[in-house]
Amino acid sequence: MKILTIEGGRPLTGCVRVSGAKNAVLPLLAATAAHGGRYRLENCPALSDVDATVDILEHLGCRVYRNADVIEVDSRPMRCAEIPREKMLRLRSSVIFLGALLARCGRAQLWLPGGCCIGSRPIDLHLSALRELGAQVTEHGARVHCACEALRGGTLRLRFPSVGATENILLAGMGADGPVTVINAAREPEVAALAGFLRAMGAEISGEGSGVIRLVPPRRFRDVRFRVPPDRIEAATWLCALASAGGAVTVRNVCPDQLAPVIDCLRSAGMSIESRGQTLHAACEALHAAAPVRTGPYPAFPTDAQAPLMAALLKAEGTTYIEETVFEHRFGHVDALRAMGADIAVSGTKARIRGVGALRGADVAATDLRGGAAMVIAALGAEGVSHITELQHIGRGYERLCEKLRGLGAEARLDAE
Ligand code: UD1
Repeated sequence: MKILTIEGGRPLTGCVRVSGAKNAVLPLLAATAAHGGRYRLENCPALSDVDATVDILEHLGCRVYRNADVIEVDSRPMRCAEIPREKMLRLRSSVIFLGALLARCGRAQLWLPGGCCIGSRPIDLHLSALRELGAQVTEHGARVHCACEALRGGTLRLRFPSVGATENILLAGMGADGPVTVINAAREPEVAALAGFLRAMGAEISGEGSGVIRLVPPRRFRDVRFRVPPDRIEAATWLCALASAGGAVTVRNVCPDQLAPVIDCLRSAGMSIESRGQTLHAACEALHAAAPVRTGPYPAFPTDAQAPLMAALLKAEGTTYIEETVFEHRFGHVDALRAMGADIAVSGTKARIRGVGALRGADVAATDLRGGAAMVIAALGAEGVSHITELQHIGRGYERLCEKLRGLGAEARLDAE
């Protein structure tokens, strides 16, 4: 295990390039299992969640070749439709294999997935949707077994626009005998990326990015070459890091439109952010409190950026209110931020952040992926040295974090524990 040491109080300067999106690449990799073919994914981030997904593909019998940021999957040799428990527990997105395996094999056996501890994270919406498509689903404790003679098309209405459930429906739809329509579908850009990939595989898809997606499964499947889009949450994290540390930074490889709620919020707190094409130029001297923030499904403020934003505002003059509406236990990072001197009051899913004059470095342990990022952000703006442990959480979603921090002039280093 490693420790990330950060000596705070230095403004960030320079340029950082955002990697491919974790939340896009994982479903894209799962999609390669939905039909035997050859797939090439470019701009894949080097993350432990990607390693875990590749491990699942290999377990299923796929051949996977990795070279720098390219992952090639040959899923033609795949024979297995079962994923062992320990592989499922390594990440939440493993549940997306359910739809892909059903489409390909007509059956799937796996376990309730792992991932960050940020709420109860049920999969009832996934399972009831798959039942509506004709799958028989049985649950024995944490084991989930799905089987079907044939998957049928149909119109499904989600009671909540769940990203994972929408992705599972689209993947299962690739093996359906008719069109599948999802009403109240998730509108997240990562769902649109999956739709683009499935279209390249041969499906007819319309409506991605809106609340209604219609998929007509392919008559003929095609091999696919696809570029993973940039990670909007990583981009948001760099903006929050700048807000905490101060300075001037150029963030490359972003889709500014997808970041609108984060950019609007940080601008409301006094940060200067200009976008030019796929690049953001941002500068921050002093911050005041931001307009109240409420997380929600896209295009609302992303729940994944809630913890980084909270860390960014710890020294802002005045009081900011944040409400988390997606996950019920997503304030696990608050105690660590308090250890650095933050003044945060939490009541249920609401938090009040009162700006303090200064933060001090502390020894903290990452609680989850984005909570860990929040600790890094706070450490950059704190006086003195912070040591951050439990870095496996952060490694799930940030590629070469320490190297990128150093590239921006931060005093950061990785040591053995
Ligand atoms: C969530 C985020 C997504 C982010 C991903 C990774 C939202 C809406 N989704 O996706 O943007 O990229 O985490 O961090 O912000 N729920 C159910 N039953 C289900 C599935 C979900 O009740 O079967 C509820 C959960 O309890 C929770 C919410 O829906 O309140 C989670 O939304 P969902 O989009 O499904 O979560 P993820 O797919 O993990």
